[in-house]
Amino acid sequence: MPAELALVVLAAGKGTRLKSARAKVLHQAGGLPLIAHVLRTAAQLRRAQGRGSVMGAWVVVGHQAERVRQVAETFGAGAILQQPQLGTGHAVGRALAVLPRSVARLLVLPGDAPLFQVESLQALLQTQSNSGAAAAVLTAQRDDPHGYGRIVRGLSGEVEAIVEQGALAADERGLREVNSGVYCFDRAQLAPLLGRLGRQNIHREYYLTDVIALLRRGGQKVVACVAADPGEILGVNTPAELARVDAILRRRKAEALMNCGVTLYQPETQAIDPDVSIGSDTIVERGVELRGSTRLGRRCRIGAFSILVNAHLADDVTVRPHCLVLNSRLGAGVTVGPFAHLRDGADIRAGARIGNYVEVKKSVVREGAKALHLTYLGDATVGRKTNVGAGTITCNYDGQAKHPTTIADDVFVGSGTELVAPVKVGRGAYIAAGSTVTDNIPANALAIARGRQVNKRGWARNRRRMLATAKARKDEPAVAVRPATPSKSGRGARHPRRGRRRQARRRSRRRR
Ligand code: UD1
Ligand code: CA
Repeated sequence: MPAELALVVLAAGKGTRLKSARAKVLHQAGGLPLIAHVLRTAAQLRRAQGRGSVMGAWVVVGHQAERVRQVAETFGAGAILQQPQLGTGHAVGRALAVLPRSVARLLVLPGDAPLFQVESLQALLQTQSNSGAAAAVLTAQRDDPHGYGRIVRGLSGEVEAIVEQGALAADERGLREVNSGVYCFDRAQLAPLLGRLGRQNIHREYYLTDVIALLRRGGQKVVACVAADPGEILGVNTPAELARVDAILRRRKAEALMNCGVTLYQPETQAIDPDVSIGSDTIVERGVELRGSTRLGRRCRIGAFSILVNAHLADDVTVRPHCLVLNSRLGAGVTVGPFAHLRDGADIRAGARIGNYVEVKKSVVREGAKALHLTYLGDATVGRKTNVGAGTITCNYDGQAKHPTTIADDVFVGSGTELVAPVKVGRGAYIAAGSTVTDNIPANALAIARGRQVNKRGWARNRRRMLATAKARKDEPAVAVRPATPSKSGRGARHPRRGRRRQARRRSRRRR
């Protein structure tokens, strides 16, 4: 096939019926903006046809043009501005004014219909080239044709006209064959007719669909290609249609995964984006969201209600319920959660374990290390087989800048440790529970960084007795009675003898 076909996606409209300020084609379904689904299919078609035969893809933009253009660019499609937006016929006219001269055929696609399959588009192109028709229309037989343009066929089966919902005559209301909005046009036949379109319709727009009757009047041939699945032409005009299309895209993705040996529990409760890949024998429990470029290895298990965004999991990873994993990597055999939060480049290496209520940010947790309870690791490196005790916190932020914490291999971090960064803990070191570590710890050392404990014998019993006496007297309020307490500063409490000496000194000063 010669290099002559251009794909033109119409995406300039506002989408008034969605009652939203956002352009319709930017609304998301199945994890992507509507326009992105259409452009993905267009890219697949270009690959299937062979790049040599397709000149390229262009998107007609108008409402929120800049944002739609950005999405188009990520798919290598060009953008053509239509300003103002005067209808689908006007949009194609704008495209023709800009497309390279060598383009001889156009495949026109609506940007608000994300369900088209490549095979149907290929069949349409084939129908046009086999018949040599000026236009070929992709149509569908629908039980509920409401809202779509209807296909009016002549006696020989040729397409005579497309009549929009608002203009249907009484005898056309029963027509079930609808216009999908996808057409293949011969450019030379189409171009002169766009200037002859009128705006005598309820929307005062130039309808592309009116071209069909004009072609027929000029004695040109128009053929139809009926889509195998009438569901795939579904377009989005209303919020209800957006929800329907979303459910269909989700189901398609779920079915594709299940066909590859993935087990999904209650897939209707899950949201799995189109680019997500999952290895066989992996189980995804209910309510799970897998978003963006998330990749799961084989034999993983993702617990209920966990959300993974751009997460890369090796084989045999277990994510327990209610975890949030963002832009992070989990090595083979890692277990995480429940209720864990891994984000911004958490790198959990093979066999490591992250437990409940643990947050890990921009940190490497090396092979076999453990942080199992109530911990924050930020800007940290945790060495191999190191044990991070419950309630450990890296104090990585001083109010201005972030600082690193480096913990070597085989370290034992006692529970309730605070590591004030920047700080380094040497290999094999041992940190006493409750320590606030501010200095580097040498390898194999024991670090104790906390106040010493003092036990005051009989203190509690004496207090209870005094309270009881006060209550018995009744005339004295209970709060006025204090047990023998140390000085206000509390220093005396830790060293009772020194405290007594201090009191003696104070007494003698007063006497002087
Ligand atoms: C259109 C068809 C209808 C078909 C249906 C299939 C016309 C007149 N009608 O109706 O026969 O059954 O699609 O989905 O074509 N757009 C522009 N510029 C404009 C107007 C629209 O780029 O000036 C874009 C929209 O952004 C949208 C697409 O064209 O992506 C279709 O427009 P829309 O208004 O949704 O047409 P429908 O009423 O659905
Ligand atoms: Ca539409």
